[in-house]
Amino acid sequence: MSVKVIVGAQFGDEGKGKVVDYLAKAADMVVRFQGGDNAGHTVMNECGTFKLHLIPCGIFNKECVCLIGNGTAVNPDVLIEEIQMLRRNNISVKKLFVSSKAQVVMPYHVTLDVSMEKKAGIGTTKRGIGWCYADKFLRKNFRMSDLSNPECRQPKLHEYLPLINAELRFFGAPEVSEKMLLLKMRGWSDALSPLICDEFSLLHGFLNEEKNVLFEGQLGVMKDIDLGIYPYVTSSNPVAAYAAVSGGFPASKIGGICGVAKAFVSAVGDGPFPTEMSDEKSAALRGDGTAADDEYGARTGRARRLGWFDIPMLKYAHAVNGFTEIALTKLDKLDTLDTIKICTSYMLNGEVTESMPDTNDLYRIKPIFKEFEGWMQGTSECKSFEMLPRAAKAYIQFIEQKIGVPIRYIGNGPFRENIITR
Ligand code: GDP
Ligand code: IMO
Ligand code: MG
Repeated sequence: MSVKVIVGAQFGDEGKGKVVDYLAKAADMVVRFQGGDNAGHTVMNECGTFKLHLIPCGIFNKECVCLIGNGTAVNPDVLIEEIQMLRRNNISVKKLFVSSKAQVVMPYHVTLDVSMEKKAGIGTTKRGIGWCYADKFLRKNFRMSDLSNPECRQPKLHEYLPLINAELRFFGAPEVSEKMLLLKMRGWSDALSPLICDEFSLLHGFLNEEKNVLFEGQLGVMKDIDLGIYPYVTSSNPVAAYAAVSGGFPASKIGGICGVAKAFVSAVGDGPFPTEMSDEKSAALRGDGTAADDEYGARTGRARRLGWFDIPMLKYAHAVNGFTEIALTKLDKLDTLDTIKICTSYMLNGEVTESMPDTNDLYRIKPIFKEFEGWMQGTSECKSFEMLPRAAKAYIQFIEQKIGVPIRYIGNGPFRENIITR
């Protein structure tokens, strides 16, 4: 049996989509286990270029079952649109399922997210994710199973809407009616009921048959609600252990944990960013947005904040997740830099530390950098680690030796085949 979890080791957008698409060639099932359409997972393969928000990146393997799992927050309108987009591109969605226990992002969650961002924002993706999870934990939300049970919708709306409308009034946003939402839910039910499944039996069937199952994380550890830079975080747990919680299976069944890290660091949204670069340096690395792998959010199109590689951050990500392997993506983006910096530790209150301080202290740390000579030559054509320029190998080996985890995959371009395996 092989159960592997693929998670972000930084602030999200590390290239998880590409790594999952690559590994899914040999997978029987891929499960998205948290988050919602705040995700933008880019895949570039022989089928085209795709930015997936909800559907697992295993969808390009016709034989692979793709499951939007327990623990996710699903906006049915976005899911329907994503299914249509894949169909238009001749990608089969016959093996796509959604867990009956997945939470539903309601239209008012999106309105509330947008409204709160206007008043006191942290730079969310405005997809209603935080408000949906808030209602989940208040135990006042719809799950996908409610879409196949028409009789429960009206009584629940009747119960939930007075508070929801009070919240909408607080922000000066238009109130919502039972009638409008009932109509919307009927449409969702017609479109999505055939996909709704019992995750427990489907997943455990695969686990019992010792099939290859991948779990696809959304975002990265630094934006974890419990372990990240609170409050500038998302409202779920993008860490490997949550795959087991969400899927309802013992964590001991997880056989591999792949941490995906960019060869530099990027972030969208507010909050501390220890190794953030100068505007001039980051503008050069970011690109102008014309290429699919330029540094603009795959969900919101916002210019990503960029910084140098951060060893304390990857150490923290490893301490939290327990990586068995690392995928280091976007090495090729450093090809034209004459010098490259790596942050090896932080200075906090006059002391050197390699630990990850909490949010307030993270604003106050000074990164300590080591400079590396750039390789100043293209790496995208390299098919093996040995073929990489000497300085690029030194850069990779330095990170590997600091973390003590093999860097098994090296991304040297945006396409599926731009992966060097070791
Ligand atoms: P995700 O959210 O972790 O799936 O990552 P995103 O798709 O949001 O952002 C990663 C970006 O980097 C996308 O534009 C990918 O096409 C691109 N990408 C991934 N790996 C590589 C790589 O090794 N080289 C290059 N040049 N681009 C990459
Ligand atoms: P993938 O899966 C990068 C960020 C937002 C904001 C914070 C909270 O593509 O890596 P939310 O909308 O979740 O309430 O926003 O999290 N954020 C992401 N940043 N990639 C993502 O997803 C993100 N999903 C959310 O910018 O800082
Ligand atoms: Mg992304």
